[in-house]
Amino acid sequence: MTDPSSPALENLLHEERRFPPSPEFAAQANATAVMYDEAAADRLEFWATQARELLTWSTPFTETLDWSNAPFARWFGDGRLNAAYNAVDRHVEAGHGDRVAIHFEGEPGDTRTITYADLQREVSKTANALGELGVSTGDRVAIYLPMIPEAAIAMLACARIGATHSVVFGGFSAEALHSRITDAEATLVITADGGHRRGKPSALKPAVDEALSKGDTPVKHVLVVRRTGQDVEWTEGRDVWWHDVVGAASEEHEPVAVEAEHPLFILYTSGTTGKPKGILHTTGGYLTQSAFTHKYVFDLKPESDVYWCTADVGWVTGHSYIVYGPLVNGATQVMYEGTPDTPDKGRWWDIVQKYGVTILYTAPTAIRTVMKWGEAIPNGYDLSSLRLLGSVGEPINPEAWVWYRRVIGGDRTPVVDTWWQTETGAIMISPLPGVTAAKPGSAQTPLPGISASVWDDTGAPVGPGGGGYLVLDEPWPSMLRGIWGDDERFKETYWSRFPGVYFAGDGAKYDEDGDIWLLGRVDDVMNVSGHRLSTTEIESALVSHPYVAEAAVVGASDDTTGQAVVAFVILRGDVIEAADATASEEDNAAIAAELRNHVAKEIGPIAKPRSILVVNELPKTRSGKIMRRLLRDVAENRPVGDVTTLADSSVMNLIQAGMSGGSTSED
Ligand code: PRX
Repeated sequence: MTDPSSPALENLLHEERRFPPSPEFAAQANATAVMYDEAAADRLEFWATQARELLTWSTPFTETLDWSNAPFARWFGDGRLNAAYNAVDRHVEAGHGDRVAIHFEGEPGDTRTITYADLQREVSKTANALGELGVSTGDRVAIYLPMIPEAAIAMLACARIGATHSVVFGGFSAEALHSRITDAEATLVITADGGHRRGKPSALKPAVDEALSKGDTPVKHVLVVRRTGQDVEWTEGRDVWWHDVVGAASEEHEPVAVEAEHPLFILYTSGTTGKPKGILHTTGGYLTQSAFTHKYVFDLKPESDVYWCTADVGWVTGHSYIVYGPLVNGATQVMYEGTPDTPDKGRWWDIVQKYGVTILYTAPTAIRTVMKWGEAIPNGYDLSSLRLLGSVGEPINPEAWVWYRRVIGGDRTPVVDTWWQTETGAIMISPLPGVTAAKPGSAQTPLPGISASVWDDTGAPVGPGGGGYLVLDEPWPSMLRGIWGDDERFKETYWSRFPGVYFAGDGAKYDEDGDIWLLGRVDDVMNVSGHRLSTTEIESALVSHPYVAEAAVVGASDDTTGQAVVAFVILRGDVIEAADATASEEDNAAIAAELRNHVAKEIGPIAKPRSILVVNELPKTRSGKIMRRLLRDVAENRPVGDVTTLADSSVMNLIQAGMSGGSTSED
């Protein structure tokens, strides 16, 4: 948990700098200050208007919100629509078929230009192919792809037939993929031979083969995109090539109009227990708010902007701000496959210059990395096309914010710091460009139509200057509709801490102006490079290794990644005995390396601990709860805080003594 009294945060909260919009930007902005008043006057009518203006409904809705079965919301419940029709076909019908939907830039430098008319053909063909593979409305499809256009096409093809997609980030392991396929009972997996990453092909299909090798999933087919040309194992009768099946499919396909509350997708995210939660989003409300926020928070002008969100479609940012929001709004966007430093550290800025990117949306961890590389690199490119910058995923420190605006934004662009979550589906708290005088480090205020508040422990709202828990006290259109297959966990996780309101799991403070500062998670969830990881999930992975008797994981602050995973492990007696005979630092280093690889295998490389410390004891309360707060003090090289509630207060001395003995391992 972030300690709201820490000196770093106190400094954060005294920010004098203001960046009001320029008169030129304000004059052309989509957003207006009046929107706040309109939404405050009649919140439901405000959202109903957005739903009608931004989307095309095959059956218009008459009811805006049914909250009678809270916390299970129904938005626009009696309306019908199709997400793919809204994202693709209607733009072609409106005469924009020649507009570029996606400028694809592969990491090796190959490119593809996909217009809305191309996208309509590809999505229709893929929808027909899904039908041929036995997928129909209501089925679940797992998508495990690199950042290539087929990822968006596959998602839209599912939406077109009313199948629910579950995208699994390509960096997750076979184990993680297996549990997600099983939980969602997916009948089809869409994957690729591999993708290009850091200058070389990286395989994906083997993880699918491994995940399915247990034979306990309902998967009937695996649809494989050829991206890298790597050799792949092939299971006859199960595996089919995309270019064969989609290639041969008809271009004619009628989108299936589904109910507004039809499940559009499931996206797994980490929670406080070991088992990831399948966050469920439905169609009408989700599309309304992702399109609304994309239009107003990014000031999108579909005719002239070139938008680029650097996220991966495996995360919610990719769902809402690469696939659904931008395409529903008819945007032209860049999609990039690889890493920012391949072949060199100027790659991103080369892409901005090459495509004339006007709107850039990325994460603080990327901004801090680029800062570290030095401003000479971005300064070497023409970035004058940029007119708006966005940030998401974790708190952005004011210095990084100011650097981002000055070096990347040429001291002229608005910067929007957008707070939201997998669960919220779309941006909730953010400045409105052209309206808000931006304040570095603060996400500032809830968007029009959104109600957020900061409450203390007792559930009382805090005033200016006060800190506590962020809650969302009114339902919103793109809110999660549940956790797949686990209604109880949904109620327990989000709606029980303060009965009837949504508990976000983030600490927050109001400054003296009433602006909101997000302070990080208050639960056992870590945020590493903007990726959500659960301490419990990593602990479970560690103790599943035969060496480990017990493990405790904390998120320690890290200059680049925001937080980093630090693990404390107690080895099993027999391992210690074996090691004791030759006890050496190398042994511990070898054990730590082995355990780090084990975590990568169980969850994925993103979950690898930065360091693993072998200890003899863990600090526990008398009731046996591990005191992570104290371990975080150790991991961050701080004096250890209050130890009086420990069952054995000498434990911390032992741990610190052990550390100075050099049991850390990093690579
Ligand atoms: O702690 C908050 C942090 O990221 C969490 C949500 O993670 P995830 O569901 O993976 O979605 C990330 C992309 C939307 C939140 O609970 N977070 C996200 N954006 C911000 C943020 N923290 C501070 N400022 C932000 N702008």
